[in-house]
Formats: sequence, structure tokens, C-alpha cells
Amino acid sequence: MTTTSGHPGIGKNHQHQALDADAGDELRGMVKLRSVKKIYPNGSCGLLDVNLEVKRGDFIFVTGPSGSGKSTLLKLLYGEERPTDGEVIVDNCNVGQLRGHKLSLLRRRIGVVFQDYKLIPRRTVTENISFVLWAQGFTHKEIERRLVPTLKLVGLQHKASCFPEELSGGEQQRVSLARAIVGTPPLLLADEPTGNLDPDNSASVLKILQKLNNFGATVIVTTHDERLLRMANKTVVQLRDGQLFQG
Ligand SMILES: Nc1ncnc2c1ncn2[C@@H]1O[C@H](COP(=O)(O)OP(=O)(O)O)[C@@H](O)[C@H]1O
Ligand SMILES: [Mg+2]
Repeated sequence: MTTTSGHPGIGKNHQHQALDADAGDELRGMVKLRSVKKIYPNGSCGLLDVNLEVKRGDFIFVTGPSGSGKSTLLKLLYGEERPTDGEVIVDNCNVGQLRGHKLSLLRRRIGVVFQDYKLIPRRTVTENISFVLWAQGFTHKEIERRLVPTLKLVGLQHKASCFPEELSGGEQQRVSLARAIVGTPPLLLADEPTGNLDPDNSASVLKILQKLNNFGATVIVTTHDERLLRMANKTVVQLRDGQLFQG
């Protein structure tokens, strides 16, 4: 597949242009965690002294048992939680220090997918996907331009006017993927995206994530699905009790 046919905007060429403009190794990192600690207000430990570096264009899995800190790690990356200590750098921004408009601007550059899809029930597939773009002030024409290739990429052109309750779990997860990527974010985070899916649907979600990665997006996926890890054959880091183990 060529880089221009699949998805508007996410493409190797696109990424290379950005890299050429950004000289220096530091700028090539997409995510950097330096001695990150997260203790929740009730005293629960989310993460303990975590160091992690993810380069632009990487695809990594974060695995570990329930309660080990996987969701906490992703929440720190998209600024839903702030670190108690240490630095969380995403796309050269210190996320823990961003507030208000600056945080919203960074979030536009991060697509997020959840295990439970989080679709708006009384809105069609098209509305669910275009809502984000509309909220960001995209023109009607630009929304149209992005919508069709995104629907095609997730294989849901024929379901564009359906409501979430008319879709299977696998289809709902593909809508949520479409919503996460329609704004062509350079970073895609997926929190146990196949947690509620059967093997076939998990495989198709993985294929879409891999395609986006081939187009240039950096992808971070949490999972404890061993089958998915074997199928994907990507870098895996492990969390245990808030501590990260690499390799
Ligand atoms: N909002 C919160 N308030 C208090 N404790 C939390 C909160 N979110 C997560 N935790 C705690 O942080 C630890 C890590 O949770 P989490 O990141 O959700 O793990 P995982 O996603 O791997 O299941 C757990 O002990 C959990 O109870
Ligand atoms: Mg979790």
C-alpha cells in the first residue's frame, strides 16, 4: 500500500518532512518518562520510578497484570493524570506542566482508544467520528475529506449511518479507532483495546494499529492478551506493581 492511499495525513512522507525540519536527536523522541512516580491522593501507588523512551514511529506494547499501572501510564501521557514526581515528555512537551489550552492542543495530537469504546450512544458512526473534528473547528469540507478514507481504513463504510447499539463489539471498537485517528495524531494510545474482543476482532484491530504505524504514527498499546503479543511480535515492556521492566 502506498502512503497516500490509506489515510489522509498520516504518511511516512509527512513524518519525514517533520523530521527534516526538526534537527537533533532529542526531537526524534516521541515519549520520554524520567523517574516518573504517581501516587494517587488515597495513597495508592500507580507508578514507581518509571523510565521509558519511545521514538517516533515505534510500536510498543505495555503488558502486566491488572493493577500494575498500565492505564496510569497512558493517563500520564495524555495528561488526564499528573505525575507526583519526575517528568513526562510527549512530543517535546512537559505534559505534567501543561494547563488549559496548551494541554488541549497537545491532546489533539494524541489519539486514545479504550477497552470499552466510549462512543456517544445516540449519535451515528459518522457523527461519533466527526464530532472531534467539528469541536476542533475543522470545516465541513475538511471533515468530509477525512471521513471517507478513515471509514475505509477501519472497514466501516457500509455502517456510516448506524448507531453504536446496532454494531457488534468489534465494529464499535473500530469506530472508536476511527475517531482516535481521524485527526491524524502522530501518537496513538490504546488501553487494552482488545480486552472485550474475540480473536478475529482482536486481529483486525491489531492490523489497523499496524497500518497506522506503517503510515508513521507512534503506537503504544497496553494489553495482557498473550495471543495479541505473539501475533504482533513488537517490543514489549512489562509493568509489575508500578515498576517497569524492559525487554
Ligand atoms: N483514580 C485512582 N485513584 C486511586 N487509585 C487509583 C486510581 N487509578 C488507579 N489507581 C490505583 O493505581 C494502581 C494502578 O492502576 P491502573 O493504572 O489502573 O492499573 P492497570 O491499568 O494495569 O490495571 C492500582 O493499585 C489502582 O488501584
Ligand atoms: Mg487498566
